[in-house]
Amino acid sequence: MIRRLPLIATLSTYILIFLGVLVVGFDAGLACSDWPLCNGRIVPPMEGIILVEFTHRTFSSLTGLLIVWNAVVLWRNNPSDRLVRILAVTSVVLLILVAVMGGVNVLNKLPSGLTAIDMALAVLLLAVLVVLTVRVGRNAGSDTVETTYESVDKLNRMKGMYKPALLTAGAVYLETLVGGFLKHSSAAHTYVHPEAPLAKELVTTYNVAEIVMYVHMLTAFLVVLALFLLLVYARKQKVFFKQSMSILLLLGLQIFLGFFSLVTKLELLTTTAHMAVASAMVWISVHIAASAKFSETKLIAASPSEDQFPFNRTVVTNG
Ligand code: HEM
Repeated sequence: MIRRLPLIATLSTYILIFLGVLVVGFDAGLACSDWPLCNGRIVPPMEGIILVEFTHRTFSSLTGLLIVWNAVVLWRNNPSDRLVRILAVTSVVLLILVAVMGGVNVLNKLPSGLTAIDMALAVLLLAVLVVLTVRVGRNAGSDTVETTYESVDKLNRMKGMYKPALLTAGAVYLETLVGGFLKHSSAAHTYVHPEAPLAKELVTTYNVAEIVMYVHMLTAFLVVLALFLLLVYARKQKVFFKQSMSILLLLGLQIFLGFFSLVTKLELLTTTAHMAVASAMVWISVHIAASAKFSETKLIAASPSEDQFPFNRTVVTNG
């Protein structure tokens, strides 16, 4: 269980992002009027939007505890790995920021559009947890590093995937930010309902809504380009091909869901699925980038001098 803690915290955060979108979609943020009780009760009647908000609250408390527990365990177990310690602290700081921003959003203290910051921070938290999971997994398997010609060659090829994977992760994250703004500024609403813009929201004129929509579509094109590069590299280096292909499949689904959201005039299930797919794309692309980056350190530990090839040997490292 302890060994799998970073992965469980990551999965839990992923589900929480999904639940958060449902809360916004159902406008359930204020369904429980008090805290920590919900409408004066520990367990409120499980119906309608109260069920949505209560599930989100309970799950977010559990996820919060999980992230803090994960950070404490990793801090204690990795005294010599500075990066793990920095990422562990970062995950807790981001958790606090997400919680504070969530509260500020509920109290309507931020101008429309800026509420997307909460979502942006939550996705960043997911990315940090993915990097932690990869790093800790790498540490667990790094007591012994095989230095056969094949394994060193594979590490070398993995290392070459770092830049295209980072570019893909960056493009997907940027697209997620633009998508968040499109939603939270109500530009998407104004775009599909130009006759009935929401008065208090940021984008209420069709022309501006159209521009934000086009920026979102244009950024999707950037994701396509970055992913194309990633696939070319994955094919050439013969590593991470399946993972890159799965991002391609998700991208196809995402573009479909994006257009379907417009056709259905932002029907909740479609837009929620759109967010879930975006987070999955962030997860996989960050996983590839982190695995590629950390293969570098493994490579340094494993690199035998020229004259040691082609003999196989095993070295002991401390990560
Ligand atoms: C790489 C591709 C894409 C990614 C990663 C992406 C990501 C996102 C994200 C994260 C949101 C905010 C969701 C939320 O906060 O709940 C969003 C909103 C939206 N996206 Fe995309 N998107 C992509 C492509 C597209 C495409 C091609 C379209 C087609 C028109 C599209 C249409 C929309 C619409 C209409 C919204 C607003 C949904 C709402 O107001 O509920 N997206 N996108």
